[in-house]
Amino acid sequence: MTNAVSKFIAAMPKAELHMHLEGSLEPATLMELAARNGVRLPYADAAELQRAYSFDDLKSFLDLYYLGLTVLQTSDDFYRMTYAYLERSARDNVRHAEVFLAPQAHLRRGLAMSLFIDPVLAAFADARDAFGITGGLIPVIQRQFDESDALAMVAGLAPWRDRILGLGLGGPEVGNPPSKFRQVFAKARNDYGWRITAHAGEEGGPDYVREAVEILAVDRIDHGVRCSEDPALMALIAERGLPLTVCPLSNVMLRVFPDMPAHNIRALYDAGLQVTINSDDPPYFGGYVNENYAAIQAAHGFSDDALRHMARNSFTAAFLSEDVRGQYVSELEAFAG
Ligand code: ADE
Ligand code: ZN
Repeated sequence: MTNAVSKFIAAMPKAELHMHLEGSLEPATLMELAARNGVRLPYADAAELQRAYSFDDLKSFLDLYYLGLTVLQTSDDFYRMTYAYLERSARDNVRHAEVFLAPQAHLRRGLAMSLFIDPVLAAFADARDAFGITGGLIPVIQRQFDESDALAMVAGLAPWRDRILGLGLGGPEVGNPPSKFRQVFAKARNDYGWRITAHAGEEGGPDYVREAVEILAVDRIDHGVRCSEDPALMALIAERGLPLTVCPLSNVMLRVFPDMPAHNIRALYDAGLQVTINSDDPPYFGGYVNENYAAIQAAHGFSDDALRHMARNSFTAAFLSEDVRGQYVSELEAFAG
């Protein structure tokens, strides 16, 4: 299923805007952490774990993902996970990475907020010094829990509010619409000055995307691919220039589309939507961001110029200062492949 990454894709400067840190653990690392931290998993080794990476839907993935993240126990675990992703991404010519973390999953296991937030931010600072990669953290609400739980999580993040980019919404989508979290997103925006992004239109229909746009007033839509089922909504998203963080390999692995040729990325792109390409949970879905670009090029015949346009979108959609954004866009425009 994986397509070879061309030299053009590998060398192209890009941003990644949709990647869950807990979903970046490679199977070997996950098993090592389980052994070191005394966490019992129903897999003998990394190969057996990897064989379980076959999913029927979002829920079957999330069950394994929530189990896998329990191997993270110490600050050092969170630091190394973050640093490893940033090091790998810098090699893939990702210049800027905005990543998700699910605090509620860790708070519920009894970990203190500082145990995981501080090392993640420290890894960003160190990776920036070492590789020049910029980026930041977007805590993501687990939508299966009540809004009160999300409000408590956001209150607990107050000490870090100026070092956090925004607030996201993830987890099982159907039955947990964006409107469930109206207050917490209003607080994040008004009291903390955070940007807003939400998973919508992955498993849920276009009505979920519409709620994210109209009720949460999102700055970006994560996935959003099912907006194409409502042409008026698609026109609204295009008109507002709202970016979509599309994760093609994830969408095929979680059966949003039966295979890559059936993915609607071409229709979204041709409709003028601000499409960006991302990896979601790279080891679980068979590829990092470059493999995602390669997969859509192979299946949909996008030209290198079209991929460059999507990379440009990734910088336009990033929560970056205008001067740094300008530097990245200039670098991309000068990039000849
Ligand atoms: N958490 C990690 N990956 C996710 C996805 N694809 N959808 C919702 N929640 C997630
Ligand atoms: Zn996601």
